[in-house]
Parts: sequence; structure tokens; C-alpha cells
Amino acid sequence: MKPLSVMLSMLAIGITSSAAMAQSANLPNARLVNASLPNASLPNVSPANSDLVNRGAYIARAADCMACHSEDYAGGSAIETPMGDIYSTNITPSKRYGIGKYTQADLKKVLQQGRTPDHMLYPAMPYPSYNGMTDEDISALFAYLQTVPAVDVAPDYKTDLPFPFNFRSLMLGWNLINVPSTENRDGLTQTQQRGEYLVNNLAHCGTCHTPRNSTMGFDKDMYLSGAPLGNWYAPNITPDDSSGIGSWSEQDMVTYLRTGELDQRAYAGGPMGEVVTHSTRYLKDEDLGAIASYLKAVPAIQTDDKVTAVDVARLPSPASESITHDLLEQKDYLAQAKASVGAGSNSPEALYLATCGSCHGVDGYAQPDARYAPIVGLSSIRRDKPDALINVILYGVDSGLNTAPKMPGFSEDLNSEQIAGIANYVRVNLGGLANSDVNADDVDRVMTAEPERPFLIKHAGLLAIIGIIVAIIIIAFIIRAIMSSRRRR
Ligand code: HEC
Ligand code: HEC
Ligand code: HEC
Repeated sequence: MKPLSVMLSMLAIGITSSAAMAQSANLPNARLVNASLPNASLPNVSPANSDLVNRGAYIARAADCMACHSEDYAGGSAIETPMGDIYSTNITPSKRYGIGKYTQADLKKVLQQGRTPDHMLYPAMPYPSYNGMTDEDISALFAYLQTVPAVDVAPDYKTDLPFPFNFRSLMLGWNLINVPSTENRDGLTQTQQRGEYLVNNLAHCGTCHTPRNSTMGFDKDMYLSGAPLGNWYAPNITPDDSSGIGSWSEQDMVTYLRTGELDQRAYAGGPMGEVVTHSTRYLKDEDLGAIASYLKAVPAIQTDDKVTAVDVARLPSPASESITHDLLEQKDYLAQAKASVGAGSNSPEALYLATCGSCHGVDGYAQPDARYAPIVGLSSIRRDKPDALINVILYGVDSGLNTAPKMPGFSEDLNSEQIAGIANYVRVNLGGLANSDVNADDVDRVMTAEPERPFLIKHAGLLAIIGIIVAIIIIAFIIRAIMSSRRRR
């Protein structure tokens, strides 16, 4: 590949990988009321609106446009990328600031090719996935977007990437290599085909769950096998038994996508909490079922991030007093547990009780009334790699799924050794692992981890400047040559 096209590719990769992050990190308006309501109503659809518009509203949910363009579609959320922040735009029907002048064909080009009427988009907008959207769905989406209230305000910030990334036409090269991001599989049932369309195109699950190749497009051989995402990790969701979700039934998947929780098994925190909050909890049962069915049909990929199967016998049984609805009793129970451990003790158990117990309960089952997450048996505390759990303890959780006070981070209050101790305590006592040897070095490693920046992106500015200097020198030489040949004449 020529260096330039590699560079273009690199540029886009970083962007794409961070697109997902943006979904989690920068959603100012992302507070929804009650996540576990199964059939929360669709947005902005008045009874007068047609079936087409209603269908469009549903597509917008399934494709999770809100995650980045915000709940009123006025845009302005920053998507952090290695090249700088990329801001989502206003996609309300405002003629001046939004997409009020778009035709349906314009929208189609944006969704399928990342091309607006006047410029190329960065793949922070997930067009490599939307590429497969059907014309029917695009026309419904177009009808729906025309009915949302116009917001006649420009987003507060505009994307202004540094040279050379400000040349949007560079994306043409990247698109050649990386769009579309997925291929359709053969031999699927009709239900699975529907699931494939939802997973690959509308819901763009792979944006977060598929690792990137050297050009930062999807690594198709590692499809859905898990990828890092800022302070989070989007786990392997292929049907592999040891590192993926092979043990999940289709019903488990439906429950998880509908409610964000799977009792004593999994929780949708961070970016996945956003996905459930804005998107999957609104989907029809048959669509969630189709997603589940398709995820059973993709190739199982084993990775080194194994997840130990839940061993119910090793999980704490909820001490009856701990699952009390009486908050005062709950407090007494915690006080008793703390006293029996010994005040001022620095043991992991004492630290857990002092730091985590008030929300997650003495035994991890939390308080039923307070809506803090029960954490017993969660996959995030059963993985071989403790990084996700360490990140949760360091930086907390704020996903909008839960209406309870957010989980704070403890990077300021606890030292690395204490965090490692709590992680081990949680993994063994609440996760049912036979042993866990997280140490302070692991915590330091996670804390100082830099997001990976491909060489060409890191040095693009310098490389481009060198390129310009070389070009100027060449031009100078040419001019000199011309001048001297004239003089000679
Ligand atoms: C993962 C985040 C993300 C999601 C999900 C997303 N977008 Fe975008 N979108 C962006 C970003 C960021 C931009 C601006 C990119 C740029 O400046 O190159 C954008 C740009 C656009 C534009 C171009 C507007 C213009 O003329 O400048 C349109 C139209 C659009 N998105 C529509 C949609 C629709 C419709 C959906 C849902 C089907 C959607 N987007 C989902 C992030 C997202
Ligand atoms: C914005 C990024 C993002 C998108 C898009 C996304 N996920 Fe996730 N997903 C995550 C993260 C991060 C986690 C880990 C959550 C946690 O541990 O709290 C996760 C967790 C999961 C889990 C739980 C796995 C386990 O072992 O516990 C499943 C299942 C899942 N996602 C399925 C999906 C499906 C299906 C889609 C598409 C409909 C999807 N995800 C889209 C980021 C994402
Ligand atoms: C102020 C209350 C509070 C405290 C203190 C607290 N948490 Fe949490 N924790 C929460 C809430 C709320 C959630 C769910 C967050 C959400 O969905 O937004 C959560 C989620 C979690 C999760 C699930 C993460 C995932 O997505 O898989 C784990 C694990 C966890 N907490 C561990 C801990 C540990 C360990 C401590 C002590 C160091 C702790 N928490 C302290 C409130 C708390």
C-alpha cells in the first residue's frame, strides 16, 4: 500500500475506534428515567404521524442516532479521537444549522458512504456499518427526521482537526479499504438474517465489540471477539464457551438487551448501559430474539480473556438480613459486619465494607430499594483479565441505565495496593473465583495505560510538515532551474 493511503486509513481507524467511546463518554443529555421499563414509548411521534414516521422513529432507536447526536438531535457531543475531538452535528430539520435542506438521496449518501452534500465525513459517524441500511429504512428514517422539532442553533463546537487531518477528502482512500465493515454470512435462517442486519448495520454492535486491524477498520477475522474502549472493554460476544457468551441462552440475551441486567451473571455498565438506555430496550421482542439467534450463529472465537463460568455454589447466598427493604436495618447489618472485621483494619474485606458496602451491600446483593447494582457473579468480575474491574473501581460508572446515584471512582482515595486488594476480594467472594492475584502493578498499569495511537497518526503532523518542506525545496529547485535557464537564454 502506498504511504499516503496507509496514512488515510490510519487516520480513520483512530476515529472509528473512538466513535464508540464517544457514545459512552460524552452524552450530556443522556439521562433517561427508568431503564427497566420494557416498552418505553418512542420519541416525538404524535398520533397524527404516519406509519412511515413511526417506523422511522423505530429505526432511529435501533440505529441509536441519539447516542451521538443527543436526545434532541441537536448534536454537539464531542467524540474523542487520537487526532482531536470530532463533534456530532445538528440533524434536526433546521434549514440553517441542521439537515433541513437534505433530500432523501442526501441522507442515503451520508448513511451509506459518509458523504454530505458538501464534504466527506469522518467515520466517527458509523457509516461503515450503516452502509448496509435498506432503502426502505432510510426513507422511513428520512420521514421521521423531518418531524422532530427543528433546533435553530449551531452546536457549540465545530470539528477542527489539526493538519493534515483537516483534509476530509483523505477519507476517500480509507473508505476504499474499510467500507462496508462487515460481510453477510451464508446459510442463515430468515430470523438470523434479520438479526445480522440489526447487529451489523443498524445497531452497529461491532463498532465496539470488534477489534481493529492495522488500518483501524474492522478486523474481520476477529469479528465481535472483544475490543478495548477507553476505560472500558467491550467483551467477546461470539458463542465461544470459555471467553465469549456461549453459555448464554437466547432468552438471556433478550433479557440483557431489554433490561441491562442478567441476574448474577452480567450487567450493562458504561457504554453498554448507554446502548440499552437509548436503543435496545425499545426494540421489539422479535428483533431482540433475532439478534440473539444471530449471535448464536456467528463463528465462536476464543481469546485469551477467559471468563470463569458462574459457580453458584461459590457465590455468597444472600444473607436474609442483607436483602432487607428497611434501610436502617441494612445500615445496622453493615455496621455489624464492619465491627466483626475490626475498625481501622486495612484488610481487603474491611476496605470493601468501608468503600463499597454501603451501596453494594455486605454480600454484594445491594439494596433492593436503592437500585444500586447487585454485583454478585457479574461477568466483569469473573474475567481472567481484571482490567475492566480495576477501571470500574478507579473511575466509577455512569451509564444512565441506573437512576440511583452514580458510582464514584476511587482513584484519588485509594492507593494501588488497596484497589488490588478490593478487586481480589470482590472476584473471589462475590465472583466465585477460586483465587485472584491482582496486584498493585496491575492497577498502576491500568492507570497509566495510554490509548493506542498508530505510529502514522501520532506523527502525522510532523510527517506532513516534512512533506511540505520537501515539496518547498523541490519547488525552489525547479524555480531556480527555470530562472537560470532563462538567464542563460
Ligand atoms: C457513534 C456516533 C454516531 C452515531 C451513532 C450516529 N452519528 Fe451521525 N454523525 C456523527 C458525527 C461525529 C458526525 C460528524 C462527523 C464529521 O464531522 O465528519 C455525524 C454526522 C451526521 C450527518 C451529517 C450532517 C451534516 O450535514 O454535517 C448526518 C445527516 C447524520 N450524522 C445522521 C445520523 C443518523 C440519521 C444517525 C442514526 C441512523 C446517526 N447519524 C448516528 C456521529 C454519529
Ligand atoms: C458503544 C459501544 C458498544 C456498542 C455499540 C455495543 N456494546 Fe455491548 N458492550 C459494550 C461494553 C463496554 C460492554 C461491557 C459492559 C460492562 O461490563 O458493564 C458490553 C457488554 C455486552 C454484553 C455482555 C457480555 C458479557 O460477557 O457480560 C453483551 C451480550 C453485549 N454487550 C451485546 C451487544 C450487542 C448485541 C450490541 C448491539 C446491539 C452491543 N453490545 C453494542 C459496548 C458496546
Ligand atoms: C455510591 C454508591 C456506590 C459505591 C460506593 C460503589 N458502587 Fe459500584 N456501582 C454503583 C452503581 C449505581 C452501579 C451501576 C452504575 C450504572 O449503571 O450507572 C455500580 C456498578 C458496579 C459494578 C458493575 C460494573 C459493570 O458494569 O459490570 C461493579 C463491579 C462495582 N460497581 C463494584 C464496586 C466496588 C468494588 C466498589 C468499592 C470500591 C463500588 N462498586 C462502590 C454504586 C456504587
